[in-house]
Amino acid sequence: MDLPAGGNASLEADASFDAALRVRQATMADLAIVVELRLALLREHSQNPIYRRLRPDAPARASRLFAAQLRCASEVIFLAEHDGATVGILRCVASAGLPLLFPARHGYISSVYVVPAARRHGVLRALFADAIGWCRERGLREARLHNAVENETANSVWEALGFQVVEHLRVCHLR
Ligand SMILES: CC(C)(COP(=O)(O)OP(=O)(O)OC[C@H]1O[C@@H](n2cnc3c(N)ncnc32)[C@H](O)[C@@H]1OP(=O)(O)O)[C@@H](O)C(=O)NCCC(=O)NCCS
Repeated sequence: MDLPAGGNASLEADASFDAALRVRQATMADLAIVVELRLALLREHSQNPIYRRLRPDAPARASRLFAAQLRCASEVIFLAEHDGATVGILRCVASAGLPLLFPARHGYISSVYVVPAARRHGVLRALFADAIGWCRERGLREARLHNAVENETANSVWEALGFQVVEHLRVCHLR
């Protein structure tokens, strides 16, 4: 993977990165990389009260779970590739809303991860653009997601992409 330098990447370097970036829908043949990227995402959240509790058999569970997700017609996993290497992932599920409220369905985004060497080059923007297209094709006019509260990067990213905070998830450990 030939990536332009991080913070000082020139516009020219970014343009050449964009030209080599491709987003596509994952298939069952991509199961191994899907497992790898989604476990890497969990490992980056080792300080979070929920996500730090990774099970020892998580890789085996992940294979079964993500294979089922790849077979499911109401969801999609997008992969971003740069020069033949997979550099990012995003999952989107056509989800039911609360029965008494509009809209009936929305696109739920999860499992968003870009490999460290490819960050700040628009990989998430590219993945998100395809996810929006996928939602629009299904008549979904709203996207939702959760992010870890202490994840300052995620907080900035989702603000930048137009998401506002509308709820807090609270956890109480019972004795
Ligand atoms: C969050 C993450 C997916 C962003 O991916 P990325 O490809 O680097 O994001 P992009 O380059 O497309 O950035 C999109 C916008 O988000 C904002 N942004 C991205 N990274 C940022 C950072 N570190 N700090 C502040 N804002 C940031 C910027 O506004 C950026 O637009 P700009 O570059 O035009 O200014 C990536 O940092 C990552 O994988 N982090 C670890 C996993 C994680 O936290 N996942 C989120 C779970 S909800």
